[in-house]
Amino acid sequence: MRRLLPGLAAVALVACEGRQSVTGGDGLHSGQFNSLFLIFLLVTAFFYLLVIAFLVAAVVRRRGRAEDRPEKSGGEGGFRLILIGWVALVALGLTGLTAASYFSDAAAGGARPANAIRIAVTANQWWWDVRYLDPVPANTIRTANELHLPVGVPVHIQLKSNDVIHSFWVPNLAGKQDLIPGRITDITLIPRKEGLYRGQCAEFCGLQHAHMALDVTVEPMETFEAWRRSQLRPAPPPATPLAVTGYNYIMTQECSACHNISGTPASGQVAPDLTHIASRRSIGAGTFPMSRGHLYAWIADPQSAKPGNHMPYVGLEPHELHGVVAYLETLK
Ligand code: CUA
Repeated sequence: MRRLLPGLAAVALVACEGRQSVTGGDGLHSGQFNSLFLIFLLVTAFFYLLVIAFLVAAVVRRRGRAEDRPEKSGGEGGFRLILIGWVALVALGLTGLTAASYFSDAAAGGARPANAIRIAVTANQWWWDVRYLDPVPANTIRTANELHLPVGVPVHIQLKSNDVIHSFWVPNLAGKQDLIPGRITDITLIPRKEGLYRGQCAEFCGLQHAHMALDVTVEPMETFEAWRRSQLRPAPPPATPLAVTGYNYIMTQECSACHNISGTPASGQVAPDLTHIASRRSIGAGTFPMSRGHLYAWIADPQSAKPGNHMPYVGLEPHELHGVVAYLETLK
């Protein structure tokens, strides 16, 4: 077992590195939290070892006395000195920890940088509504369950909730921030490393709390700008007869009452925007990877795909289902 322990510890640490990890330090703030954790670990480990050393010394001394000679008075001056030193050391340690904690807290809660990209995220049971704000209203982007962020650029995110308390958490980049009905909170992210990360709602918010994830892509500025431009484009008209069937179904039946597809009559606002759904990495707020099969399964019976979510069972005929999937797949 003893030989196994280091191996197990190594496996546990390696398992922590990944697209949903607090130890990655892929954002400025998560890096600061890692440093804070290391400082706490080292200081408390130092005191722990010191206490153990004193205990061992006391046991050894006591044994020596019991065997050799009777208790001797004196040495009080030395004892007092040790006591004063100990109290001073503890005070120093606690002051250091308080200062470290204060400064990393202040850095995380600091004012939003002037050059920050502004995003508004609204939590819903159980998905994230995402808007990239722009001084020109026509340049505002709306998407769902995903964030694209340029590396090295501060991002200021305004957080709201439409129903219950949720918590926004992309552990690779920063700490948690609650989304509270009737209040606006915010968080600043400064991604330092390109990569694909996973955010997760971190406050229990009902049946599908665990399936309330966020795909976060940190990419070079040019890639981000290309993505932004592509998201500004309205949906293309359906090009194949099958896609036309799907388009007609969506525009005339239930779908368009809840979902928005820019450039079409579908303008519902209470469900995820579908204008570029096929360009996303997942569906159902990170529940399934984006694929034709999962689109079929989701639309055919959303309640068995993600029980309790607010999309009702519609009961499409097979040709309608084929058409809707074919049309959605063109929404890149
Ligand atoms: Cu939203 Cu948990």
